[in-house]
Amino acid sequence: MASGANLNTEQLYEKLCAQKDSKSLLKKNLTPEIYKECKDKVSKFKGKLADCIRSGCMNPESGVGIYASDPDAYTTFAPILDAVIKDYHKVDTLNHPQPNFGDIANLGFGDLDPGKQMIVSTRVRVGRSHDSFGFPPVLTKEDRVDMEKVSKECLAKLEGDLAGEYFPLTGMSKETQTKLTEDHFLFNDSDRFLREAGGYDDWPTGRGIFFNKAKNFLVWVNEEDHLRFISMQMGGDLGEVYSRLVKAIGALEKSGLKFAKKDNLGYLTFCPSNLGTTLRASVHIKIPKLAASPDFKEFCDKYNIQARGIHGEHTESVGGVYDISNKRRLGLTEIDALQEMRRGVEAVIAREKELAGK
Ligand code: ADP
Ligand code: ARG
Repeated sequence: MASGANLNTEQLYEKLCAQKDSKSLLKKNLTPEIYKECKDKVSKFKGKLADCIRSGCMNPESGVGIYASDPDAYTTFAPILDAVIKDYHKVDTLNHPQPNFGDIANLGFGDLDPGKQMIVSTRVRVGRSHDSFGFPPVLTKEDRVDMEKVSKECLAKLEGDLAGEYFPLTGMSKETQTKLTEDHFLFNDSDRFLREAGGYDDWPTGRGIFFNKAKNFLVWVNEEDHLRFISMQMGGDLGEVYSRLVKAIGALEKSGLKFAKKDNLGYLTFCPSNLGTTLRASVHIKIPKLAASPDFKEFCDKYNIQARGIHGEHTESVGGVYDISNKRRLGLTEIDALQEMRRGVEAVIAREKELAGK
């Protein structure tokens, strides 16, 4: 259970005010005026300000520090959430475009590393939320079970190469979970920021993973978001990975799922850092020379890309292999977010070769 679960809005705000060195976007943007405006509001899903800010108030090391209690929080608590969204996504106004996945039959690119020298694997994911359910802080155990049921029924409608099976975490052996996680397919309950936001309440009830036969299309159920659709495979064929994901999104939209969306914000997710396109396209890539150079961070910033370790967010690199992905998800279309990542990865490859004298 989260350690600040019993603290009320006022007590949490006091903790935030007492944070001295926090660089979180919550700390920066929750001014006394905005606090006053939001503190007594309640969303349509009965979400309170406390549910949104608990993680950031209890964790001064947060980068963002706020989650949405539910889809309606983006309206009810707009004064604070909009401020954080603008700050995180570096936009002055919120006018996210309509979805545009591009023409997948004519993407104009395929494998980013045809020589198979640097890219280990490629993954593209999007997050989706059911519009009729709240997010983790306001969910009951029954909600989690109901949501899993709805998701599972729609996943069972997938056909052809996308058809697969759903495996609930409840009843799955620890060994299977560890192996799937080490192989980068499954999630675990190790994110302390998410824990404090209620993300692991009732764990492992309602959580699970779906995958097709080839294990190159997966769906995470009730991890951070209600749903994460993931396309991944070994090597660098970004074109193939992305096209598969776009087809899967189309098929799941037709299967009866209704996703939470808001004008100017796009698809809504639990964390405001993910909304908009919700798309993160990544490669695991061997770049020992570039990663060791003093301008690595600056290089990534220039191309709007982000470097993570290979076991996910908040992990370290192993053997010079990094997870390189697009940083921006809001204010641009899906195809533009993907192209931004592609250009960044191409630049990374060229720079690594240059530094290696190849
Ligand atoms: P996300 O926010 O996209 O879910 P995380 O950083 O939490 O991303 O990573 C989730 C899992 O996906 C981790 O196990 C990570 O190693 C794996 N992963 C991310 N990108 C790739 C990739 N290009 N190839 C293989 N696995 C990947
Ligand atoms: N809440 C954490 C923080 O503020 C994570 C934010 C982004 N990551 C995420 N998985 N939503 O640092």
